[in-house]
Amino acid sequence: MCSDRRKSTKLHDLLASKLLQAENLVAALVKNLESNHLFNVTQIHNSLDAITSNNHQISITMQQISTMLLNVEPKKADTCPTPELPTALPKHFEIRNWLLAWPQIDELVRTQVPATKRALFRDTKAANDITVSQLSAYDSAFDYLRGKFNTESQDCKAKEHGCFADISFPNSVFLENIHAAYRILLAQGVASQSQFIDVGCGSGLKVMQASLFFNRVVGLEYDLGYANIARELLEQVHIANWDVIHGDGITFDTYRDFNLVYFYRPMRDPAMLNKLENQIANTVEPETILFAPYEQFYFRHKELNCAPLGGSLYLAKSNQSQADSLRTKAEYTGTFFNKPRNTPPSIWDPIIKFSHKNGFGLDN
Ligand SMILES: C[S@@+](CC[C@H](N)C(=O)[O-])C[C@H]1O[C@@H](n2cnc3c(N)ncnc32)[C@H](O)[C@@H]1O
Repeated sequence: MCSDRRKSTKLHDLLASKLLQAENLVAALVKNLESNHLFNVTQIHNSLDAITSNNHQISITMQQISTMLLNVEPKKADTCPTPELPTALPKHFEIRNWLLAWPQIDELVRTQVPATKRALFRDTKAANDITVSQLSAYDSAFDYLRGKFNTESQDCKAKEHGCFADISFPNSVFLENIHAAYRILLAQGVASQSQFIDVGCGSGLKVMQASLFFNRVVGLEYDLGYANIARELLEQVHIANWDVIHGDGITFDTYRDFNLVYFYRPMRDPAMLNKLENQIANTVEPETILFAPYEQFYFRHKELNCAPLGGSLYLAKSNQSQADSLRTKAEYTGTFFNKPRNTPPSIWDPIIKFSHKNGFGLDN
């Protein structure tokens, strides 16, 4: 007499058990992914196949429940004692969305297993390369906007102190190095609590750019006029965790708080520049990334106990073999950077979280 109810209960129980199984399979997969840098490819691919097959069964069960609910005649249902037959499938749309997203999640894992080396820097800088030409046009436009934005002339005090005016480093090369640095931070396991400082931030545009990759970004600037412009910019772009400090990089004494210290030849006076470089290299924590895109630093990096990582990046208080092994580790991360996204929670979140930590993601 109550066969509809019995059938419904059975299907709902089956669905609940398949959903639980999906959660367990995801947990086992993530445990496997996390436990070993050299992935067990067969085991992980088997896990993915098991999730796919379980998803298929979830989908069939949901269809059966939907069909059954459609076919239930109200009268017939009334004859059944409490509890009543459910009139809708709980979490129907949520589960449908999870199932729809699965092929992308499956692909996301397969992209990172087996681990493959991906270079930190583009290997061509040739003037006739299509990307190089496009980036060069982009740099010109960016620099034009910087000029429009920062109309302040250099402060006399800053000039006397030996500072350069606000001369911009090409933004595309900046981004290339910052992106590589982000992957190095992933390899160091510190990307989720990363802090960036631009020593001599000028109008603050590089601080703004860096905020896409770092949790906290700081601009340090000697010239008060420039520091105010940088503050104005950062206030307007709604970055969460930023600061502009009006101060002197030569005496600044908390470089140890930062994972990456960027300085683009801030000082014209060579002796003052030496002092600034000494202060940074001597007071950062070991294995801090220094981003110093100019010749003088390249010539001094050994005496300052820094080892090149590629591009214009150096590993502070480290030797070359430490830098090389970190660089190799970073080359095994993906190229995705974790932009904040507002997506509803999903059963696949542990996989997405692991992937982000490994430099892989869905929408980059
Ligand atoms: C070449 S610009 C770099 C601008 C920006 N960082 C970029 O990469 O586009 C140098 C900036 O460093 C600032 N500066 C120079 N010496 C400094 C010091 N000792 N402490 C803080 N800022 C300094 C200058 O005022 C100037 O704004």
